[in-house]
Amino acid sequence: MDYRRLRKNEAIRNYVRETRVCLEDLIYPLFVVEGKNKKEEISAMPNNYRFSIDKLIEEAKELVELGIQGVLLFGIPEKKDENGTSAYCKENIIEKAIYALKQNVPQLYVIADVCLCEYTSHGHCGVICENEVDNEKTLPLLAKAAVSYAKAGADCVAPSDMMDNRVAYIRKALDKNDCQTTAIMAYSAKYCSAFYGPFREAANSAPQFGDRKSYQMDPANRKEALKEVEKDIAEGADIVIIKPGLPYLDILWQVKERVNVPVCAYQVSGEYAMIKAAEKMNWIDGKKVASESLISLKRAGADMIITYFAKSFAEEKKKNC
Ligand code: PBG
Repeated sequence: MDYRRLRKNEAIRNYVRETRVCLEDLIYPLFVVEGKNKKEEISAMPNNYRFSIDKLIEEAKELVELGIQGVLLFGIPEKKDENGTSAYCKENIIEKAIYALKQNVPQLYVIADVCLCEYTSHGHCGVICENEVDNEKTLPLLAKAAVSYAKAGADCVAPSDMMDNRVAYIRKALDKNDCQTTAIMAYSAKYCSAFYGPFREAANSAPQFGDRKSYQMDPANRKEALKEVEKDIAEGADIVIIKPGLPYLDILWQVKERVNVPVCAYQVSGEYAMIKAAEKMNWIDGKKVASESLISLKRAGADMIITYFAKSFAEEKKKNC
């Protein structure tokens, strides 16, 4: 016998375990809507909701109680238009949500997603000019949104639009507006993935024409991800995100080997939905599959993980204490 000696019982398995997922690794995404007393379940993402700000505060208190350190906010505005004005206008939904969170639950680390797709009538992540997403016209609007969220108290902004040069543009705008302490977590290797389906239902943000192939990355490319990551770091990204998670473990691993900044994996809505659906059919043990996926992401190099499982993971932990 060679290896089985170290698998003999629970104690030795615990001693030799190389990877652990702790609650401190996890970031929980939350969707915010206008209005009052709203907590609407997202159909393809059971146990995940769209919250109005009053309900968001209740949820945030519960999360902190459970030991969750941080959340990633997505806004769903009442009005969408060509230029995604509701992402950065005065008193936009995310600005109000951050302000309320920082007033009521100051210890919660607040990350604000920065993108226009939830706010544009056409559903693209930037401004459209002659049927294309215009990079240069989009940058100032993203920066405006980032500054608005930072001023409201966000600890970190997370640009997910995939425009070129947006990290440098946003960093400059933050610094100019006295937000030097706001970190940037850049979606650096964000693939053009069908795994985002349930999110687009949640945020009502599916593109109304075409697709996102001209700005998000081709799933077939690996070297391009390394270039994107290096560029974002050179532009000032404090943390880089690899997204989706499980189908892109190879990318996560290589990025982690290569860079010195913290690396975050995003286990996206479709990954969550698949596990929940198979669990509902009694085809898999959902809890075990979820926890194995999180371990895989850590083993591949994630320092932190954005996951819709964060709350149930925390509830499980609490039960077993
Ligand atoms: C916004 C954004 C998306 C996701 C995060 N930020 C949607 C998209 O790019 O279409 C997807 C997250 C998920 O699927 O959980 N651009």
